[in-house]
Amino acid sequence: MDAKKRIETLIEILNEASKRYYVLDDPTITDQEYDKYLRELITLEEKYPEYNYPDSPTKRVGGEAVDKFNKVIHKTPMLSLSNVFNEDEIREFDERIKKEGIKPQYVCEQKIDGLSISLIYQNGLLVQGITRGDGLTGEDVTNNVKTIKSIPLKLNENIDVEVRGEVFMHKKTLAKLNQEREKENLPALANVRNAAAGSLRQLDSKIAAERELDAFIYYLMEPEKFGIKTHYEAINYLKKLGFKTMEDTRLVENVDGILKYIQKETLKRDKLTYEIDGVVMKHNIFREQQEIGYTAKYPKWATAYKFPAEEVLTKLKDIIFTVGRTGRITPNAVLEPVILMGSTISRATLHNADYVISKNLKIGDIVSIKKAGDVIPAVTGAIIERRKGDEKDFQMISNCPMCDTPLVKKEGQVDYFCPNETCPARNINSLIHYVSRDAMNIEGLGDEIVEELYNLGFVKRIPDFYELKNKKEQLLEFDGYGEQSINKILENIEASKQSGLARVLYAIGIPGIGSKTAKVLAHRFGNIDFLMKESIEDLVNIPDIGETLASNVYNYFLEHKDFIEELKSIGISMNEIGSERKQNDLITNKKFVITGTIDGYSRNEIKEVLESYDGIVSESVSKNTDIVIVGENPGSKYDKAVSLNIEIWNEEKLKEVFANLQ
Ligand code: IVH
Repeated sequence: MDAKKRIETLIEILNEASKRYYVLDDPTITDQEYDKYLRELITLEEKYPEYNYPDSPTKRVGGEAVDKFNKVIHKTPMLSLSNVFNEDEIREFDERIKKEGIKPQYVCEQKIDGLSISLIYQNGLLVQGITRGDGLTGEDVTNNVKTIKSIPLKLNENIDVEVRGEVFMHKKTLAKLNQEREKENLPALANVRNAAAGSLRQLDSKIAAERELDAFIYYLMEPEKFGIKTHYEAINYLKKLGFKTMEDTRLVENVDGILKYIQKETLKRDKLTYEIDGVVMKHNIFREQQEIGYTAKYPKWATAYKFPAEEVLTKLKDIIFTVGRTGRITPNAVLEPVILMGSTISRATLHNADYVISKNLKIGDIVSIKKAGDVIPAVTGAIIERRKGDEKDFQMISNCPMCDTPLVKKEGQVDYFCPNETCPARNINSLIHYVSRDAMNIEGLGDEIVEELYNLGFVKRIPDFYELKNKKEQLLEFDGYGEQSINKILENIEASKQSGLARVLYAIGIPGIGSKTAKVLAHRFGNIDFLMKESIEDLVNIPDIGETLASNVYNYFLEHKDFIEELKSIGISMNEIGSERKQNDLITNKKFVITGTIDGYSRNEIKEVLESYDGIVSESVSKNTDIVIVGENPGSKYDKAVSLNIEIWNEEKLKEVFANLQ
């Protein structure tokens, strides 16, 4: 076969495969086959450079780096969109269109979080890709655009056309990129938009190629040239030409339709592989779009509903350090106040020095703030492009900011600690922890009051809380404490003595023991004396307790025997409330396996009942199993139980046992 023909055939096969994969998400050939054809094409093109086709996939790998991008004036300015943030504003937008005597018909689309691009095709071939720039003038990034696999180098029709759309980076690509950057000690890119923008503006198109950008096309210029009358038709035509268009495009008749669309997209948002930051609604009929008109910046026939911001930019004014109750030093961001999802944020944790260093944060940076899990604001990164040069490097401190003791860092750990047991910051925070809601839950003793009691010398150690009742007169001398409120606080302090062992174990601050583990221990031992007698080996055998926790618990009691005695003498209960264990001869200490379904009970419910009587439920039948509970449609566990001659309870028997429980 002659080389020219073969090159043409290979280009066709590869471009079709690429389209099936990147545009239609419906691959037809394997990666190996693709690579095989591509290698063949590369070899042939090297051998026969005279057959140089502009739509060859070999044009996508990136070429020579450039010094700078050429500026290009857009033939038609690239407009932006006005924003709306709530239902009222959507209704106002709708009313304005109706006022023009037009019956609205909206195309709803996802608002892709990326950057807009203009693509120019001549005779069906991609000749230029231009960024939006300031809307009037953009930059020629053709070489980089060609590396985006979902952008066709050649259209299905040999036409002259300009289209516009959004270039973006998938969430997974950003995660992967940031992982690689971390390995190379480079700062993480803050979000998909910055990452996409940075990638599209790489002077070296080989780097752009590695960034795996993607693009949705949503705008056809001069549609009348193709006899197209509506936006919806235009989208279909773009699809026909070979572009990747957005899937969830819907035509709706009124505001209720828009609201439903927004609701649906809001729910879908997290599941998408790319980020959307809102929904765009556009009046469908082109002729009427012209009647509705434009402002200098945006069309009046379209608008963007923006989701409540989950990420905002603000200035990192300073980094300050706080000392936790264990002595751990935490760097905190002091931010220029910003509103994020309805609340004003001026502080955010920076976790530890390594975190600050890995994000390459400098004081004075513009940083991006996100709500992690929608609760705690986190600084996700600095916007490097906005540096002015006067930002200050982060410096980890070497001494405790409260007591000036030199900080220590254990090998292999990321945190620095103040080792001073009498460090005021550590003590105040231990006291605050002791009275907090999940600990002894002493109402009326807020953080500030505890700090003040500490500073005034009333409470230096936990036992001092219980001495306050003898200092009532002195307390009353201080501003802000009325007799009634003091009485209430003192009452609550007394009542806290009966909080029970789980709360005590959490409140005293054994390293690593959270309130859940404290409950496990309290439930198991019922009384602190039993727990204090345990060896490390015994402790490790308890479910949920690993080696570190076991030795923490053991060492804590070794070092704090006197302290525990002191708490006991004050009258603080060291028993678990309601800890009398429920017992049942048929269940307690027996090993159960459940198979099949039991009418009226889920497997978990059965498990919970059995465990509340200290029955042990496991997944597989062995000779150690005592009883197998067999419901309807049992599995092979039933056969195994029979072959091992293990006692079997059917549904009737189980219900009878449960009915007789105390
Ligand atoms: S239409 C004349 N549709 O949002 C109308 N824009 O905030 C031009 N964007 O500059 C834009 N998704 O970069 C349109 N489905 C969508 C969009 C979209 C994202 C971007 C675009 C625009 C910006 C305005």
